[in-house]
Parts: sequence; structure tokens; C-alpha cells
Amino acid sequence: MNLRLDSFEAYQEAYQKSANDPSEFWNGIASQFQWMKPHHQTQSGSLEGGDVQWFVGGQVNITENALDRHLAERGNQTAIVWEPNDPDHPIQSISYQTLYERVCEMGAALRASGVQKGDRVILYMPMTPELAISVLACARIGAIHSVIFAGFSAQALADRIQDAGASVVITANEGRRGVKTIPLKSTVDHALASCSTVRLVLVQRVTAADCVMESNRDVWLNEFEQRGKGLPCPPEPMDAEDPLFILYTSGSTGKPKGVVHTHGGYMVYTAYSFANVFQYEPGDVYWCTADIGWITGHSYIVYGPLLNGATTVMFEGIPTHPGPDRFWAICAKHRVNQFYTAPTAIRALMAHGEDPVRAHNLSSLKVLGTVGEPINEEAWHWYRDVVGQQKCPIVDTWWQTETGGIMLSGLGALSPQKPAHAGLPLPGIDPVLLSADGTELTGADQEGLLCIRSPWPSIIRTTYGDHERCLNTYFRPFPGFYFTGDGARRDANGLIRVIGRVDDVINVSGHRFGTAEIESAINQATVALESAVVGYDHPIKGQAIHAFVISDRSLDEVEMEAARKDVLAAVERGIGKIAKPERIQFVPGLPKTRSGKIMRRILRKIASGEFDQFGDTSTLLDPSVVDAIKTQAQSTWFVPS
Ligand code: PRX
Repeated sequence: MNLRLDSFEAYQEAYQKSANDPSEFWNGIASQFQWMKPHHQTQSGSLEGGDVQWFVGGQVNITENALDRHLAERGNQTAIVWEPNDPDHPIQSISYQTLYERVCEMGAALRASGVQKGDRVILYMPMTPELAISVLACARIGAIHSVIFAGFSAQALADRIQDAGASVVITANEGRRGVKTIPLKSTVDHALASCSTVRLVLVQRVTAADCVMESNRDVWLNEFEQRGKGLPCPPEPMDAEDPLFILYTSGSTGKPKGVVHTHGGYMVYTAYSFANVFQYEPGDVYWCTADIGWITGHSYIVYGPLLNGATTVMFEGIPTHPGPDRFWAICAKHRVNQFYTAPTAIRALMAHGEDPVRAHNLSSLKVLGTVGEPINEEAWHWYRDVVGQQKCPIVDTWWQTETGGIMLSGLGALSPQKPAHAGLPLPGIDPVLLSADGTELTGADQEGLLCIRSPWPSIIRTTYGDHERCLNTYFRPFPGFYFTGDGARRDANGLIRVIGRVDDVINVSGHRFGTAEIESAINQATVALESAVVGYDHPIKGQAIHAFVISDRSLDEVEMEAARKDVLAAVERGIGKIAKPERIQFVPGLPKTRSGKIMRRILRKIASGEFDQFGDTSTLLDPSVVDAIKTQAQSTWFVPS
């Protein structure tokens, strides 16, 4: 299989070809995979209808392409290098042959336990090889995996288990992150008190700590895997459009939604984008620092690299343990060639200066990637100059859970570089900027709403159990386009800079949260009558959360401190620590219009310290509330030094 374009001319040619004849273009790529049955139609449906399908009639199993296909040529090559949280613990190098065997064992054990094609399996696990193996084992037997990031609370986990109607949960007794251990199994137990569909819980023993095991439900993962030993585990024939996984992500309204991706289109696009963006060459060692609980880990730790027969590094720990040079120590130890991380991590490590980077030999690095949020120019330059020693291109990859794979990005060193710009679209991707009324903006340096005009293979198929919601969010705002929810700007050379969300989604350290979901968690605190949250710029996290809360009684200083703790605890219970507001402000009221809508625009200005630019406030029910909120905020967070 060779999916990689190797010059800028080849990129331009491919782009033209993809625009002139998308079917031929994507057929050429799809034909490089192993299909059980060929498709009879490359693509059906439309963005207008929100019913796009790819490789219709084709049958495939993504794991046959990620594992079996490599065995003859590179069975002994390392597929996954696992770097443990504690640098003194042994690493694991898992060859393609071993990975294949373990996935088959686990898949066979799942089948033997009654898990069938289409069943939903929840993975709530630390970053161990068993997580990757579980993901692949589900895919192998056609079960739909749904990985829930192990930082989510019991309540958030329960919401997702219920929405997915899952029958199996795979977890660990505990996870390890730096010096902390995370009690995963007890969180699962807590969540399952309200989930009647789950009949089997598999528990990986990661630490020596005990955990409660319910004899009629819970099984140790290593014992469970043994049940599959010696059993055959042929890949389940999947229709190209059969769901591969559900991944929950936040939107501007309501609870997080389950984004559905499929075996065929997702396979083709993640493999293709991985090969091109990272310019991966055989023998390279590639490392993406994300967690498999997010889309980046799905597409670019597991599927994209393995489909390309790559060696992919998986890291259990955190960037600052045992010291702020851990990332660079790992790059040097494994001679990493392509390194992919988030701006928030770059900014956090930048704060430790250059010495931790310089302490390690980073000469193996060829390509540096970033993802998850806009990268500021300062961080971009530091990444390029200090980490990359000015010899590595930066690929600023813009994409989303819903797009399945990278949409805008340079291709290694082939493409033009511009700080803080994702750049050009991949061949096959047709981005446009629209004004709020849907007019296409074609001039240079205009800012507009980023939309995509033609379908691509890994586009979101539906939001699990609620297709209307999918249509309303992505396909109806601008008929004929996929609406991303991001604002962007394009320069005279066509390079795109993605500015950030234009909806009520807040991106904290590259993690997405909806204002509605945070507010509903806050409102669970007894002290909170009503709340509104907004994002504001934060030097490390990109954005942080400012919560405006109406309390159920007036609070003195001491009571206010206790009330803040209540609010934080409510967010931790409802979502998890990762969504904690940085600032909590108890306010006498919220700026609402006469129809009861909160004017977040004003709250955003206040949170950003822009006190003179509120615009028209005449439609507010009680404009005096704005002054009160402003004065409080000014005296708490914006005191001139
Ligand atoms: O706002 C964009 C931002 O992250 C959002 C998608 O979040 P999520 O679905 O969690 O996926 C993150 C990993 C793919 C986008 O709507 N975003 C992602 N990458 C970039 C970005 N913003 C600017 N530049 C990027 N490179």
C-alpha cells in the first residue's frame, strides 16, 4: 500500500484530481485496502440530505487491514511501543504478530461470552496496551466500541453507557497518572448503579490495589483473555457503512452526543491522512501523545498508524512526570521521528524553558504535529525552533471528532508553512468560508464560518440514536454544506487559519465542553439557582471557563468560599475534574433579554476584561445587572497592578 504523496506538485495534482473526479480519486485510494467484497457505488447521499454513505455495498473489516495484512511482510516489526508512566518500569514492544494474536484472543473471548456484531462495548481505561487491544478486538468481531476518557466522572460515564445501551464495560482497577492513581473500577461501580444494560465488566489489573469484584458480573481481564486462547477469531465481515465506534463529544446544546464512524470510510480516510500529513516512511517511529479517549487517539494512535504498518508509541503517563523533560526523554529513548501533541502541552512545557528540551538528543525528529486548538504564534515558534531545532516542519492539523480525520494541514515538509495556520486542505477536502447568511467569502483575509462543500469518507454518519440532532447541528445550518462550528480566515495564498468555535463550545486544553453541559452540572450544586459559563483566553489552557452563578441566598466572604467549593464539586461529579471552571463569580442576576435568553456575548466580554465594548444592551430585561457583574469582575480579576 502506498498512499503517500511525496512532493508539493504531487499534492497539487492529487488535489485537482480529487476536485475533478472525486469517485475516481477515492476509488484509487480505497483499492489499496483488502476488501471482502468490493463496493458497487463509491458514494451515495449528499450533504444536503445529511445521508452520506461511502463504498456502498463493500464489505471489509478494519482490523484485517490494520493487522492480518501486515503479518507476512512485517509480523516481527513493532506495532506498539508502550512507555509506562514510571520511566523505571519496563517498556513493552508489541510486534504485529503478537498484537494480532492478542486481538484475536480477546475477540474470540468476547464472542464466546455472547458479544455480537452491533453490540456496544464501553472502554473506560488507562493508556495501557490492553486499551488498544480491546478497541481492535471489538472492531474485529463487529462490536461497536465507545471509549470514554478515564477522567470523566461516574455520572458522565453513566450518561454515555445509557445512551449507548452498552452490555459490556472494560476497565481497570486503577489508572496511573504521574504520582496519582485513578480509581477507575469504583467509578464504574458507581456508574453502573444506574445502568441496567451492562451484564459483563472486564477489569484489567494495573496496580496492586484491591477492588470490589461482583462475582456474577466482573471478570479479571487477563483471565477473560485466556478464554480466547486457541480459538479462531476470523474478522467479522462488516458492511462499509456498519458502525465501527461511537465517540461522545460535546455540542453547544444538551448532553454530549455520540458521533458514529464506520468501518469503510473511516478506515480509508485515517490511513490516507496519516500517511500524508506525517509523511510516514517504513521504519519510522511515530508518537502521538493524545489519550485514546479522544478522537486523536482513535485515528492517530491506533487506526491510522496500524493501517499503515507503522510503529506507534503509546504513553501511559503525563508530560511532567517525573520531570518536565519527560516528552523529550521519550522522544530520545525511542528515536521518535514524528511527534504529535497539543498546543496546551507545548505551552505548558515552554514555561519550563529550553533546558529540559536541550537535555535530550532529538535529532531523530522529522515532523512535528499539533492538534486540538489554535496554536498561538509564540508556541509555534518555540515548537519549531527549540523542539524541532528549525529542521522539522510543523503540521498544524485542523479537524474534529466529527470529521474522523485531519482535514486541513501541511503534508510534512512538502507544504508552505505559516505560523498559526493549519494551511491547505488535504486532497479530497473542499473547505469554504461562509458569511452568517450563507454567502461564500472568496476574498483574501476575510473571516467566515468554516464549512465543507463535498463529502469525504470519514464524515460523521449520525449522532447515535438521534439523527435529527445530527442534521440540525451539521447539515441544516447551511444546506449543501457540512458546518464545522469554527470560524476561520484564509490568506491570499489559500492558507487557512482556524480561529476557534463560533458556537457555545469551549475548548479547554484542547478538550471540548458545551456551556449547557457545564451549566447543568453547576446547577446541581445546592447553592446554585442558575448559571452561565463562557470561555476566556488562558495562557496555557488556550481557553478557561468563567462561571457566573446566581446563588440561592446572599453570601458573605466565608460562605462564598464554601459555595465555590460546592460548585467545583458539582462539576467534578457531573463531568469530571477536567471541566472545572477557573473562575466562579456569584452574581445578582444574569444579562437576559426580555425573551429570557442569556446574552453570553456580554459575559464573554466581561470574562475577557473588555469592559467598554458591550454593544447594544437595550434589549436586556435589566441592564443594571451588567454593571453589577462588571464591577465585581473588575475588582476580583482585573485589578491593575
Ligand atoms: O475548534 C476546533 C478545535 O477543536 C475542535 C474539535 O474538537 P474535537 O472534536 O475534540 O477534536 C479535537 C481533535 C481533532 C474544532 O472544532 N481544533 C482542532 N484542531 C485545531 C483546532 N483549532 C485550531 N487549529 C487546530 N489545528
